[in-house]
Amino acid sequence: MARKAAKKSAFKAGMYLLETLTAGMYNDPLAIYREYIQNSADSIDGALKVNPWNSKRINVELNPIEKSITISDRGAGISAELAADILSSVGLSSKKNLNLRGFRGIGRLGGLAFCDQAIFRTKAEDKDIESIQEWDCNKLRQLMSGTGKTTYSLKQLFNRSTTFYQENGKKKAGSYFEVKLSGVQSFRNHVMDIKKVHDFLSVTAPVPFHPDEMSFAKEISEYLSSNIHNYSAYDIILNGEPVYKPYSDMVKLTSKGHDIIDGIEPFEIKINGTAVAYGWYGKREDLLGAITKGQMSSGIRVRVGNIQIGDNHLLDGCFRESRFNSYMVGEIHVDSADLIPNSRRDDFVDNEIKGLFYNEIERELGLPISKQIRLNSRLKSKKETPTVQRTSPVIQPTIKSVENNKLQKAVKQVATKGNSVNEADLLAAIKKECKDCPVLRKLTKNI
Ligand SMILES: Nc1ncnc2c1ncn2[C@@H]1O[C@H](COP(=O)(O)OP(=O)(O)OP(=O)(O)O)[C@@H](O)[C@H]1O
Ligand SMILES: [Mg+2]
Repeated sequence: MARKAAKKSAFKAGMYLLETLTAGMYNDPLAIYREYIQNSADSIDGALKVNPWNSKRINVELNPIEKSITISDRGAGISAELAADILSSVGLSSKKNLNLRGFRGIGRLGGLAFCDQAIFRTKAEDKDIESIQEWDCNKLRQLMSGTGKTTYSLKQLFNRSTTFYQENGKKKAGSYFEVKLSGVQSFRNHVMDIKKVHDFLSVTAPVPFHPDEMSFAKEISEYLSSNIHNYSAYDIILNGEPVYKPYSDMVKLTSKGHDIIDGIEPFEIKINGTAVAYGWYGKREDLLGAITKGQMSSGIRVRVGNIQIGDNHLLDGCFRESRFNSYMVGEIHVDSADLIPNSRRDDFVDNEIKGLFYNEIERELGLPISKQIRLNSRLKSKKETPTVQRTSPVIQPTIKSVENNKLQKAVKQVATKGNSVNEADLLAAIKKECKDCPVLRKLTKNI
């Protein structure tokens, strides 16, 4: 018997779909910053194609009195003709360009779960019309709570909690997009805690390396720019202060000591002969002991479009012992259409390439690094090293750094006086031997 086609009107999308895309979406409420910054970065990339001098600035303003968060950019904005359509679409993205980060059409909804009101305001370059969409998030939550005993379709829910209007903007204001969340609150209010927001952005957002803290910043950026499509960093300004990645030349260890990063190792991850990712890791001088959590940089981290996927533990399983990942600093930047971030962006969508990717990371990095860590630990327990009287957290890494470079001479001079080295003698000798050594300057500036 021939099958009867179902009536087109049979499909319905109900209100709980929106709940899943807002309150149900992210384990960590701070993820909403990632979603809005990701949208700004995509929009700035679009604007840069037309005007290479377009600003790469993304402003993030937290106002504890108003309990508001405002995130704005001067990217391409949305034109007056398209704004209503784009801002009223759920699960449909206008981003067709594969090089852009967003594609699901849901990211901007994340903030709705944590505020009383959300206002999206945007204007494109060509027209003097500003488009505004307002969400009454209290009403949205009340309608979704089901207490009214009425269930709504997604469309009804949307129409009852949003308003869209347009106003005459100033044409010379150029193009922009701004999202303002007011009456913000979350569990323990982490979303309004400026230190937590700063730390989250420094590891997650596409920010640059700190120009003074990380000697290898330029080398890494050049390596990534020359290999990754569209590799880019943005000037993210949090309450007036620029945010940088947390990497520096010195790492604090959980054992309370320090270690020096004296170089970087660039690498590629290949699957069936094709590179799917490029990365770097810091070469630690001693490679003894894990890096403290407070340092924010520990673990080899995975990024797509320079935005972190998951957290510092994503690759733990690729090491012989999961804690070995926290001995390392480094990044893997994925550049493959087959490795697709999942909707929470805490891992990749399951497919064959994902399995091969993690296997390759294990083979290329996890196993050799695990072996090296175990070897160094065995050697340490055998090795007799000169000890420094009154070892300070500043001088100890200085001694380590000099063993492998041109300052070696200074250490030898002092160390020959006996197996025990006087800290003051050592510093004087090092200063004499190498006046312009950048590591020395950094380490001794507080002495
Ligand atoms: N800062 C912005 N500048 C210009 N347009 C924006 C901006 N933020 C959002 N938009 C527009 O709103 C649309 C919806 O954003 P949303 O974050 O919900 O989805 P997406 O970015 O397309 O996909 P994803 O869900 O993967 O993030 C975007 O596709 C884009 O057209
Ligand atoms: Mg998005």
